[in-house]
Amino acid sequence: MSQRDLKKGSGELFRDEGQDGLLHRAFLRGGGFSEDDVRRSPVIGIANSASEFNPCNAGLRELSEFVKEGIREAGGLPVEFPTISISEPYTRPTSMYLRNLMSMDVEEMIGATPIDGVVLLGGCDKTVPAQIMGALSADKPAVMLVAGPRPVSCFQKNREFTVDDVWPVCEDRRVGLVNDEDWRELEGRSNIGVGTCNVMGTATTMAAVAEMLGFALPGSSLPAANSPERREIARETGRMIVRSVAAGLLPSALVTDRSLENAFRVVTALGGSTNAVIHLEAIAGRAGLRIGADRFEAWSAGTPYVANVRPGGTRLLSDLDAAGGVPAIVHRIREVIHADAVTATGATWDELLEGRSFDDHDAIAPVDKPLSERGALIMLKGNLAPRGAVLKAAGVHVPGLRHHRGKAVVFDGIEDLNARIDDADLDVDADSVLVLRGMGVLGAPGMPEVGHIPIPAKLHRAGVTDMLRLSDARMSGTSTGTVVLHITPESAAGGPLGFIATGDEIELDAAAGVIRHFLTDEEIAARIPQAAPVAQPRGMAWLHQRHVMQADDGCDFDFLRAAGVEATDPTLP
Ligand code: FES
Ligand code: MG
Repeated sequence: MSQRDLKKGSGELFRDEGQDGLLHRAFLRGGGFSEDDVRRSPVIGIANSASEFNPCNAGLRELSEFVKEGIREAGGLPVEFPTISISEPYTRPTSMYLRNLMSMDVEEMIGATPIDGVVLLGGCDKTVPAQIMGALSADKPAVMLVAGPRPVSCFQKNREFTVDDVWPVCEDRRVGLVNDEDWRELEGRSNIGVGTCNVMGTATTMAAVAEMLGFALPGSSLPAANSPERREIARETGRMIVRSVAAGLLPSALVTDRSLENAFRVVTALGGSTNAVIHLEAIAGRAGLRIGADRFEAWSAGTPYVANVRPGGTRLLSDLDAAGGVPAIVHRIREVIHADAVTATGATWDELLEGRSFDDHDAIAPVDKPLSERGALIMLKGNLAPRGAVLKAAGVHVPGLRHHRGKAVVFDGIEDLNARIDDADLDVDADSVLVLRGMGVLGAPGMPEVGHIPIPAKLHRAGVTDMLRLSDARMSGTSTGTVVLHITPESAAGGPLGFIATGDEIELDAAAGVIRHFLTDEEIAARIPQAAPVAQPRGMAWLHQRHVMQADDGCDFDFLRAAGVEATDPTLP
């Protein structure tokens, strides 16, 4: 075996007529592959993130078989392998904490394995960015297939019960408004099948990103997890990867300033998840690029918000799919899209949309009458968030809160929040500003999705549905509210959030893009800075603490970025 062959696996090794080729073929035959099979070319890996501890991705087991059919039809040899699977509900401390580890797993397996190209099978929130990041760094041809949304359920009178409908029931239960019988019923009704969250949460948002970056087939985000259409997309994904290998289409050629801009514009037109901001910056960093809060904001400000889909809007993902899905959104906002960017089919968006028209549908607003003139994500800055924060304007329930000044009620971490938020004696009213800190990528660690601070029980009972809330945490893409997230730097990294005390005035001015406090330098100097997190002695915690970057650097590990992209500031020594 030559030195070159030892560095990176390639399907070439199966085509070798000497000892290497014989052994490569022989081992697969021992695993059940036929003599014909092992001489097929190209060799395509299928990186499957199916897991019983990730029901969102569990359908990928079956879909993988359809991908294999497509690969074989096109002449290739499919060989499936597992990777880490990160699920939102089960992964502790958070799924974000393991995203970079999964990206390393994906990168190293693509690199190490004797394959010419790879199909990435992802779905649940972090699995999609982790696979894109890993595939970009490995840089062999890659096509992605997502698991697709799980079915909509019915619960009591609600015949279109989606995942975002679960949160209000939980809130009601907290304050004693849901009895035991209904609570048990909810358990059996909230998830009635495999697949990802059935609203425009992080999973579907990132699936749309995968389409826009040219990793996933156009129109592949929305068909239901268990639909015949998704099986056909799986077959086509298999055929496509064989064509991508033949064309030498590399991930590094897909991720450009223009495709990143396309991706984020579509996210904001969809009312997509705030998590996309972090993942896109991380993806950019793997490609040697940088986006930055100012460009995110300019792109969002210049893109109409048109998708009337939950949780920000009223229609279902299946309605948006019927309206034409992501390609219809691209068509609708084409004026602000770089339509010469390439899709996973190898054709550009221009070529793909040539001559296509989409019927009017109430899931997509007309461009001259959008849900809002600007995109649904607002990037904020100010003395409380010197390196940025984000607000999903599509989620604001009480419009007056977009410009609001009130007194802070501060919680130091999740235990403190849980212990006091429902205390009848808590000094809080509807105008208060709920502040949660110590929940950043370093401090929590892993930036949990807890930024959606619950409305204090006594206010909830009084009918308060929304309040200004802010934190250095993230929020589930399925949640809504006037919630300022990703305050950077986080409090554990010395950010100003750490100085804020209960009673301080805080102001949000969403139109001006400002989040601020009113403390003087003297007042700040008199405050005690937040203690640095305790040094972690070993393993993943050690690695994470020393190498994870802040939210504005995509929370990637500094050593995984492409050469030439500097972190905004160094992490802990
Ligand atoms: Fe997996 Fe929402 S919990 S996609
Ligand atoms: Mg989530």
